[in-house]
Amino acid sequence: MEEGPVVDEEYMKEIEKARRDLRALISSKSCAPIMLRLAWHDAGSYDAKTKTGGPNGSIRFEEEYSHSANAGLKIAIDLLEPVKAKHPKITYADLYQLAGVVAVEVTGGPTIDFVPGRKDSSRCPEEGRLPDAKQGASHLREVFYRMGLSDKDIVALSGGHTLGRAHPERSGFDGAWTKDPLKFDNSYFIELLKEESEGLLKLPSDKTLVEDPVFRRYVELYAKDEDAFFKDYAESHKKLSELGFTPPRIPSRCNSGAKSTMWMVQTAARVAVAAAVLVLGYIYEVNRKKS
Ligand code: HEM
Repeated sequence: MEEGPVVDEEYMKEIEKARRDLRALISSKSCAPIMLRLAWHDAGSYDAKTKTGGPNGSIRFEEEYSHSANAGLKIAIDLLEPVKAKHPKITYADLYQLAGVVAVEVTGGPTIDFVPGRKDSSRCPEEGRLPDAKQGASHLREVFYRMGLSDKDIVALSGGHTLGRAHPERSGFDGAWTKDPLKFDNSYFIELLKEESEGLLKLPSDKTLVEDPVFRRYVELYAKDEDAFFKDYAESHKKLSELGFTPPRIPSRCNSGAKSTMWMVQTAARVAVAAAVLVLGYIYEVNRKKS
């Protein structure tokens, strides 16, 4: 594991500048879907038991981006290189997750809280940690539980398929899940519940979400209540983007720590003064009575 970034005021400023550059890049290239897929595939290799994989930028290495599940993601990696060159302080791990957050935001999705400070790693996970679209519920659970995520996370995050499409030369599948693949909304769940979604894609793993009774409850909720979807999606996406990551103390938090130390010192001083006044008052009273 390489050294983590120092998340000071300057790093936070770079993050904000990179966020603006990413907004411009993602809007002008209409590449939100592949940016979201890149962020998810860097994070989704996490194994909670061995604490390996996860959002650590290791997908930038050929060893990992050439895994068959990552077919096509080199395009997103290359698109982000100029942003990295402009903001070299920012780790790849942070940059890829920030790109995922911005992708959701610029296509009209919920705001996702982003905490920087992820370390880059040059250790790539073994192939086979990402879900296989041809398999069913038990496989999905096995993969997401390994990451430390829940049934609700599985369904909410699958809503990411509101964006983008499958490409025959990448995954062997073809087509988009929704009628407007550049708009982040709850239409993925609405289409999923329709018997026939003409011309739209349903992967075997998508169909599992309506067949499994526990998953289906969430699909039905998100299809009828977009606010509930946005709220849960933002929470699950944040969890995914922080797998294995303990946010460092950032300056504002350090300040609040310093503030509370200051408060304790001041309170102790006040108590000491009050005690001294009492003792002196007592001595004065005793002496007065004596005289
Ligand atoms: C639940 C298990 C999942 C499976 C089996 C799966 C599978 C796939 C497959 C086969 C593709 C097509 C790739 C291509 O041909 O270009 C794809 C695309 C995509 N996936 Fe997933 N996915 C899953 C979960 C997720 C999650 C959790 C997210 C994000 C939160 C996500 C976001 C995307 C996006 C945005 C695309 C479109 C990429 C593009 O248009 O270039 N997927 N996924």
